[in-house]
Amino acid sequence: MQNSEPYTVNTPLPRAALKRIALDQARPGMYVADMCLKLPEGMASRHYFAIASAEDIEKLAKAGNTAITIDLGRSQALDLDQLGGPDVLGGIRTLQAKVRSVLSDVLQDELDRTRKFLDSARQAFSTFLTDIRSGRLADVDPIRGIADTLIDRADRDPSTVLLLLRLLDKDFYTFSHSIGVSALMIALAKQSDVPHAQWRDLAISGLLHDVGKIRVPEEILNKPGKLTDEEFALVKTHTTAGESLLSGIGVDDAISRDVVLHHHERLDGRGYPHQLSGSAVSAFARIAAVADVYDALTSKRPYHTAKHPMQVLRDLLAWSGSHLDRQVVESLIQSVGIFPAGSLVRLKSSRLAVVLGPAPGDVLKPRVRAFYCLASRRRLPHADIDLAASRTDDVVGLERADRWSFNLETVLSA
Ligand SMILES: [Fe+2]
Repeated sequence: MQNSEPYTVNTPLPRAALKRIALDQARPGMYVADMCLKLPEGMASRHYFAIASAEDIEKLAKAGNTAITIDLGRSQALDLDQLGGPDVLGGIRTLQAKVRSVLSDVLQDELDRTRKFLDSARQAFSTFLTDIRSGRLADVDPIRGIADTLIDRADRDPSTVLLLLRLLDKDFYTFSHSIGVSALMIALAKQSDVPHAQWRDLAISGLLHDVGKIRVPEEILNKPGKLTDEEFALVKTHTTAGESLLSGIGVDDAISRDVVLHHHERLDGRGYPHQLSGSAVSAFARIAAVADVYDALTSKRPYHTAKHPMQVLRDLLAWSGSHLDRQVVESLIQSVGIFPAGSLVRLKSSRLAVVLGPAPGDVLKPRVRAFYCLASRRRLPHADIDLAASRTDDVVGLERADRWSFNLETVLSA
């Protein structure tokens, strides 16, 4: 993999790459990574950004900051001598050099790890469902293990959770949908400030939200055409059937029960099974509903083709208020980015690129992998670009992947 840009950032840098400095040491080009930052007006939710000018530093001072944390690996043109003593400097310089050279390997490792995780999770999930179907005592521990791994990834780097959505094998729909919903729910929980202690139950509830479908005949679930009223009534029972299955497998926390039972409720009271409306629909059920609809519509099913994530985000916004919680939909847009992972985009540099994930704090500047030159109509050596750190390149438009013959999964895993 070759890089034409100064940085390729796919995972958080080691802790040692962060440094707290006095604000009067701040310079344009430094990359702020500071969750404790007092945000100046007009910079809401921007805890990660490159300082563009002296004016930015003034704004930070006016907001009451006297010190900031910067990310040395993502900062440009650092005057390291001003930032620490000689012992620290050697380490930082070596670290910066190493960070740049190993980052492409890090992405490859991350993709390999993700594939291995998905393979073992798929197997565990399939055994779990087979046990429930055959009436055996299903062991829920492997499901808890999947939830723990998803949370661990979200803690390390939320974008790796979202990247795995792209790697899911959509042929195994039940598994892919369950893990997709769970991953999105964790991302939404993080965005919505749900306490970390509740993430595990939430992740498990996402994995099990449709477990009641094992009580619905497969020919109905996979019917390509419109369902009859009787068939739809049967599909709806998966919520109550799922809730009763939970106690049999030892999952009795309130979040899982609520999500399994209420993920199809709508804010306008037109959902099922209880036609709850407004505040009667819990925050967890609202999060589950948004994750469920987003993942379902972006996936291929027997009765519909996969929609482009951008189109789905637009649809969700249109349905928010009446059907879905608008705040949760906005959190989803923040989480997946305006340019969701896996999207094909056109860059200012006349290249096509696939989106690797949103940049922290700036949904308009994703991390991308450029692979095709539009001017020469030729494939290029892959170049990973952090558009938030790039001074020259930017996204100028979305491309419809179906208009090109590229296999974006191959680009992602190359
Ligand atoms: Fe469902």
